[in-house]
Amino acid sequence: MKNMKFAVLTFCVLVASAAAISNHWGQRSTKLFWMKDDHKIYSNNFVANPVRGFAVSRDVKFPQYATKFSQNITYIEAIDNFRNSSGGHAMIIAGGPKFNFVHLRIVSQLNQGFSFLIKIYGK
Ligand SMILES: *[C@@H]1O[C@H](CO)[C@@H](O)[C@H](O)[C@H]1NC(C)=O
Ligand SMILES: *[C@@H]1O[C@H](CO)[C@@H](O)[C@H](O)[C@H]1NC(C)=O
Repeated sequence: MKNMKFAVLTFCVLVASAAAISNHWGQRSTKLFWMKDDHKIYSNNFVANPVRGFAVSRDVKFPQYATKFSQNITYIEAIDNFRNSSGGHAMIIAGGPKFNFVHLRIVSQLNQGFSFLIKIYGK
């Protein structure tokens, strides 16, 4: 069991250093040991082509309109699909973990596009 944990940790570190600038906020909600009591409520890819002379950006709002029935966000992942140093950067503008909404902004580097997988967990 201990060895397994180590193997999993090592794997995560390798993935993190291979990806350019992935980011995450909050943490998965755990009921008992490894049992998660949140679940994925959103997953989407955002891709932008490079525009010469500009950084491109894209705002992501989830949900489009929050209501009192919207689930509370526990964890957000922004996974950079670029496997080199040209990746963009994802940031939270408003809301996030502990809120029932989030407003993210993805910004590329100058003269670069981006490709991000955004995953949101909630309960
Ligand atoms: C979200 O969190 C608030 C404050 O803790 C709570 O009152 C509300 O019931 C939660 N919403 C859901 C859908 O669980
Ligand atoms: C980095 O990878 C992306 C996606 O594969 C590609 O579009 C971009 O041109 C690459 N950048 C460099 C400097 O190779």
